[in-house]
Amino acid sequence: MGEYLMESTNTNSIILAIETSCDETAAAIVRNETELLSNVVASQIESHKRFGGVVPEIASRHHVEQITLVIEEALRKAELSMDDIDAVAVTEGPGLVGALLVGVNAAKALAFAHGKPIIGVHHIAGHIYANRLVEDMKFPLLSLVVSGGHTELILMKEHGSFEVIGETRDDAAGEAYDKVARMLDLPYPGGPHIDRLAHEGTPTYPLPRALLDEDSYEFSFSGLKSAVINTIHNAKQKNQEIIKEDLAASFQQSVIDVLVAKTKKAVEEFQVKQLLLAGGVAANKGLRSELENTFAETGVELVIPPLYLCTDNAAMIAAAGAVLYRKGKFGTMAMNGQPGLPLEVMN
Ligand code: KG4
Ligand code: ZN
Repeated sequence: MGEYLMESTNTNSIILAIETSCDETAAAIVRNETELLSNVVASQIESHKRFGGVVPEIASRHHVEQITLVIEEALRKAELSMDDIDAVAVTEGPGLVGALLVGVNAAKALAFAHGKPIIGVHHIAGHIYANRLVEDMKFPLLSLVVSGGHTELILMKEHGSFEVIGETRDDAAGEAYDKVARMLDLPYPGGPHIDRLAHEGTPTYPLPRALLDEDSYEFSFSGLKSAVINTIHNAKQKNQEIIKEDLAASFQQSVIDVLVAKTKKAVEEFQVKQLLLAGGVAANKGLRSELENTFAETGVELVIPPLYLCTDNAAMIAAAGAVLYRKGKFGTMAMNGQPGLPLEVMN
């Protein structure tokens, strides 16, 4: 992060943002903090599929190939030139270091060449701010961030202020989905496939709900993943057939039970006005409907962004970057990709 200038109440800005933390090369432009002018995402999923997961080296190489094209496309779709841009925002971390570096260096080059300020954005702040492109934020709010790399409950009392009240001790929810999917011979990324199968099955396999009764907001999904693997191995040894739909339904129910119970507890404890769902796992139909049922009559507003804003994109980085722009929180040309960047540096 970097220099702190005067905070302004003026929400006028045009932010160009870049996101390359994992396997999507993305650029987007947001005007006046909430108006999405363009949103370009080049996905690499097809290149990683045959390896069953993201290969960091391949990700970096793809980012290098795509980044300039994606930025040009974002400007073209918004019908703007670099002269119109007030600042360049970029995901500084967390993520794959080689992947982050491509975006950070592109942002620095662009900012330097055109004499624009640069803004470093935390990837999770971005996921949360994706919600602001569809709905006004009402504080205090709670965000459940569930993605391939993160499972966190974050409390926000005002714009640009983040308090992590709980996170996973091991695997992220999406990571567990992808690993279980692989065991069931489903393609990468596995989340959508398990989600689909789960709706065709019944949760008949007994699986654990980790840390459910514990008085904390922490999560753990590696035990659940191991329990699924053991169930498959045991069935194989006994020559029994696994009913994939039922196992998917059992796994999904276990994930949802824990996510929803802990979220409900935090919503009540912190008396929040809004609950924002964020990250790729927000696409999960079972999770969405369970949250809708749980909060339908509570007076807490549940916001779930459309799918294209849940999975990795740069629109969310522009939305979070616009708030930092207004607060005068700029980065410097010494900015680097930070794989382990803590969310609190945004505060
Ligand atoms: O936010 P995201 O695009 O990338 C990260 O920052 O990680 O999230 C990707 C994750 C993957 O693990 C994928 O399997 C999961 O989101 N996902 C889902 C669904 N759609 C995507 N998980 C469960 N159900 C879904 N429908
Ligand atoms: Zn993400």
